[in-house]
Amino acid sequence: MAEKYLSTNPYIGTRDFYPEEMRVRNWFFSIMRKVAESYGYEEILGPILEPFDVFAAKSGEEIVKEQTYHFTDRGERHMAVRPEMTPTVARMTAAKLGELRMPVRWYSIANFMRYERPQKGRLREFWQLNLDLLGEKGLASDYEIVSVAVSLLKAFGADESMFKVKINNRRFYNDVMREVLKATPDEMKSISKAVDKRSKLPREKYEEWLKESGITQDKIDGLDRIFGMPLKELLGKIPSDSAGGRELNELFGLIEKTGLAPYCEFDFSIVRGLDYYTGNVFEVNDLNPENRRALFGGGRYDNLIGLFKNAEVSGIGFGFGDVTFQNFLEGHGLIPPEVHNNETVLITVFDDVEYAEYIKLSDELREKGIGSVIYSGENKKMGRQFQYAESAGMDFAVIMGGDELKAGKAIIKNLSLREQRETARNETAQAIFNWRKEKLRNTLT
Ligand code: HAM
Repeated sequence: MAEKYLSTNPYIGTRDFYPEEMRVRNWFFSIMRKVAESYGYEEILGPILEPFDVFAAKSGEEIVKEQTYHFTDRGERHMAVRPEMTPTVARMTAAKLGELRMPVRWYSIANFMRYERPQKGRLREFWQLNLDLLGEKGLASDYEIVSVAVSLLKAFGADESMFKVKINNRRFYNDVMREVLKATPDEMKSISKAVDKRSKLPREKYEEWLKESGITQDKIDGLDRIFGMPLKELLGKIPSDSAGGRELNELFGLIEKTGLAPYCEFDFSIVRGLDYYTGNVFEVNDLNPENRRALFGGGRYDNLIGLFKNAEVSGIGFGFGDVTFQNFLEGHGLIPPEVHNNETVLITVFDDVEYAEYIKLSDELREKGIGSVIYSGENKKMGRQFQYAESAGMDFAVIMGGDELKAGKAIIKNLSLREQRETARNETAQAIFNWRKEKLRNTLT
């Protein structure tokens, strides 16, 4: 027999965001926006659907063949639900080349879908902060992107014991594979795929993967030796005119001279799964062993604009996902308790006061930018009214019965501190405003 009701579960791998969850994400997105804007990045957005071809060319086999949701629309167009933002950023840049003031510094906060097996840190719908700098090649922009990445995490109170930016370079990687491991182009492809998954796979699986692709034990051992080598040693083993080697060396040179050194390290296993990267690439890892997934990843892409226009515009940026990030914040205790508060005031009601008085009060509060709700339950016992406010996570309640009103007074109650203060009726909104500011000051000191 068919079920009588439809399921209330969201689609597998997606989430419903109730007010409690929205509060946390709005909090972290607002900090991300501030940091991005402090570096001069401006917010953009594109559509959730793009022609499938926009991703097919360069997003990489795994995303395109296994993870992209795609369909034919009613006008017979082959469309994709965006699995990532970078091709859209490239399309938007290409569309206005000549008009745009270069370089372009853009960020967006948007949702994406990938058909993945839902697991810790991986869902089918997720959000990313994407931040990209286009139209400038060279060290300064590579450094800037790494610097924004570090600032973002520091803005949440994270320090060097909590995360690491791991950096490599695609061209350098290819040079090492060719010159040191003597890998053929075909072998390089299979090795890159296995290396990309290396930290997430058990050792036997990683070796099995390589052997299945025809990589000899000799080369597997050679790879291990490469992974153990510091950057300087590897640089000495490839031709001195290696562009990738120079890019990486220059970037680290600058990192070492500024404050970023404690947060960054060279890691030869960072290859990144997307096909469009050409130069420096990086991933940011949570150092909490419970959260092994990359918090975010990115890199330089030289030829993506070329998909849309005959123009050479290089870009560099990253995508910072909300799922692993929330695990990061929770794992390191970086979500301040007040983020969970619902900053709304409950106006409690009494039978001996005209309802219009409460409406006036709520209007005054709103004028001060303070949200409020007038209690509307049948049971008006004070205990019940407070219980309602507390269960909704509200931070203040106003008590204004007939006696208070006659005396020109009101009582404001701070629900988290369980303290109350008397105020003049016409200063109620200001008093709440001031008390909230006091609370904020106390949490900051
Ligand atoms: P990506 O490495 O595919 O890069 O994704 C970047 C981040 O998005 C990941 O590190 C992770 O935080 C998050 N993410 C990806 N897939 C999922 C998923 N299924 N569930 C939860 N989180 C996920 C890109 O997307 C590039 N377009 C980034 C970029 C921007 N490169 C240059 N500019």
